[in-house]
Amino acid sequence: MPIHSMPILIEEIAVGKNHCSPAVQLKGVIKQFGNVVAVQKLDLVFEEGSLVTLLGPSGCGKTTILRMIAGLETPTEGDIYIKGKRVNDVPIHKRNLGMIFQNYALFPHKTIFDNVAFGLKYRDVAKNEVEGKVKKALEMVRLPGVENRMPSQLSGGQQQRIAMARAIVIEPDVLLMDEPLSALDENLREEMRREIDNLQQILGVTTVFVTHDQREALSMSDKIVVMNEGLKQQEGSPEEVYNLPNNHFVADFLGHSNFFKGVVADQEGDMISLELRDGNVFRVKHPGQWEPGDPVEMVVRAQSFKVTSVDEQPPEQGMNTFDGIIKDRSYMGGEVSYFVQLESGTMVHAIGLAKLRAIRKNTSVRVHVAPRHCGLLRVAE
Ligand SMILES: Nc1ncnc2c1ncn2[C@@H]1O[C@H](COP(=O)(O)OP(=O)(O)OP(=O)(O)O)[C@@H](O)[C@H]1O
Ligand SMILES: [Mg+2]
Repeated sequence: MPIHSMPILIEEIAVGKNHCSPAVQLKGVIKQFGNVVAVQKLDLVFEEGSLVTLLGPSGCGKTTILRMIAGLETPTEGDIYIKGKRVNDVPIHKRNLGMIFQNYALFPHKTIFDNVAFGLKYRDVAKNEVEGKVKKALEMVRLPGVENRMPSQLSGGQQQRIAMARAIVIEPDVLLMDEPLSALDENLREEMRREIDNLQQILGVTTVFVTHDQREALSMSDKIVVMNEGLKQQEGSPEEVYNLPNNHFVADFLGHSNFFKGVVADQEGDMISLELRDGNVFRVKHPGQWEPGDPVEMVVRAQSFKVTSVDEQPPEQGMNTFDGIIKDRSYMGGEVSYFVQLESGTMVHAIGLAKLRAIRKNTSVRVHVAPRHCGLLRVAE
C-alpha cells in the first residue's frame, strides 16, 4: 500500500468504527470471586438493537456477566465497552442502562408513579417533563392510568410490567433483564415473553436477557449465547444453536437429545455410514470430511425419531429403521414421549404427536430416523 494513502485509510476506519460500534462488547473478561472463577476469558459482542440471551444452567455465570455490564461488579481482567466506550471505571448511574430483575424490586411503599419516576430523579429531567414520560412508559407497557395505585394492588404480571416501565422510562442505551419471568406462572410467562419481544422491537433497544429456560431463549432471541461453568459454549441464532450444536453440552442442554458413540465406517459424498458401539449401523448425512475409524458421537433429537407399528411403512424413504419394544411412554398433552429399547439393547427416546390410539407399553414397534436428522460431533481420540 502506498504510504500516502495511509492517513485516509486510518481516518475512514476511525469514523467507521465510531459509527458501527457494537452496543456492548466484552473483551477477554474474567471474573473471580476468591477461588471461584465465575466467568472465564469471555469475548462477546451485542449488536445495536438486538436481543441477546445468555442461556445456561444455574451457576454458569449469567448474572455475573449482567452485573459486570451494569457496573455492579468489576471484571478481574478484561474490558467492557458500551457504544465503543470503555466503561470499566464508569459508575453504574452513568452507564444509562435499564435493569429488570427476577423479583420486580418495586418499592412497596411508593406509588406506581413514584416507582416509575424513580429512575428520572437522578437525571437531568425537567420536573414538568416527568409526568409525561411516566405516562408514556405506562402506555408502552399497556398499563395506562395506574399511577396512583400501590404495587400490592397489582398482579404479579402487572408488577413486572411496572418494572419494565421503570427501566424504559430513562430511554436506556441497553436493557438488562435477569430472569424477569421466572416468578410468573406458565401462562403469564408466555404472554409476557411476547410483550417483551414486542416492546423490544418497538423501542429498538439493545437487550441482554438472562434465562436458564431454553424455550424462552429460543422463542425471543436474535442471538443466544450458551454458557456452562463460566465458559462460552456457543453463540448463534436460535436455529444455529438448536440445529447445529457445537458440542455435547449444547446438544444436551437444548432440546431432548439421544447420544450414541461409534466410529465412521465409510463416507460417500455427504452420506456417512456409522457403526455404533452396539453394532447398529446408521446412515448419516453430514457435510464434513471424515476418515474410516474416526470416533464420533451421533446426536438425534427425540422429535426426529418416528415410532410406528411393525406393519407400517416408514414415514419416508431412506430412513434408518430399527425394531424395538416400548419400555415406557408418557402423555404430555399434544405429544407423547416414548422410550424404545432396540434389539441391540440401546434405549432410544422419541417424542411424537399424540394420536388418538396411542401405542402402549411393551408393544413391538419400529423407530425410524432420516439421515439428515442425525448430527455428528467429533470426539477426541
Ligand atoms: N458475590 C459472590 N461471591 C462469591 N461467589 C459468587 C458471587 N456471585 C456469584 N458467585 C459464584 O459465581 C458463579 C456464577 O454465579 P452467577 O450468579 O453468575 O450464576 P447464574 O448463571 O446467574 O446462576 P443462576 O441461574 O442460579 O442465577 C457461581 O459459582 C456463584 O456461586
Ligand atoms: Mg443468576
